[in-house]
Amino acid sequence: MNLVILTGAGISAESGIPVFRGSDGLWEGHRVEDVATPDGFRRDAETVHHFYNLRRSRLLEVTPNPAHLALAHLARHWPGRLTLITQNIDDLHERAGSPDVIHMHGELLKSRCTHCGAVAPCTTDLSRASLCHACGGIDVLRPHVVWFGEMPFQLGLIEREIQQAHLFAAIGTSGRVYPAAGFVSLARSCGARTLEINLDSTRSSPDFDEILSGPASETVPHWVRELLDS
Ligand code: OAD
Repeated sequence: MNLVILTGAGISAESGIPVFRGSDGLWEGHRVEDVATPDGFRRDAETVHHFYNLRRSRLLEVTPNPAHLALAHLARHWPGRLTLITQNIDDLHERAGSPDVIHMHGELLKSRCTHCGAVAPCTTDLSRASLCHACGGIDVLRPHVVWFGEMPFQLGLIEREIQQAHLFAAIGTSGRVYPAAGFVSLARSCGARTLEINLDSTRSSPDFDEILSGPASETVPHWVRELLDS
């Protein structure tokens, strides 16, 4: 049986990484246009670097929670094909032991050179003075993340995996950002059973066949146990 899992910010919330959409519409006090768009970066690269530097240093202090660990356990024991797609830019799935994670919105612990395209590991602060070790350029590095107005990574592969899925599960995502928000409809139209796991109901909830409500650290391990027993 082919299983496709999509995760969002909710799976990392209990590790201490805040979700995106605050009730004030701001992203940790910033307007999204200022810190998560190519225009925002062109206007004020230092502010954008500072925003991601804070997130990167915080990421290095947190650890995977039981939901990440349960999905890694599932990957080790699932007899069929399992594809794990995340919208998260953290590396908590990898640290929990999940292999081959598809980071459709990029990775915070990598930088990308806007001059030569080189992608490199990045665990320290970036600034306009940072040097690209591949081409020697200065003031060329940006976080290797997808901003609004940019194309998510590996969409072709993701769509192929969803088209072949028997079960599609979305965990901890609000279903407000496309194209990920449209994956459930694609999965359903291709015949997959669909499951939403979330703390609350979302605007996508009516599109799912089944809903599992509660904190991911409890619901995901429970779901994984049931799946492996079934
Ligand atoms: P959101 O912040 O929009 O939604 C987080 C979801 O997680 C909500 O539906 C919450 O109900 C749920 N949630 C919160 N805590 C939870 C918990 N402990 N257990 C289970 N669920 C919980 O985050 P995403 O849907 O991931 O894109 O956001 C999608 C994209 O929007 C992000 O990848 C990012 C952002 O703009 C880019 O940066 C391109």
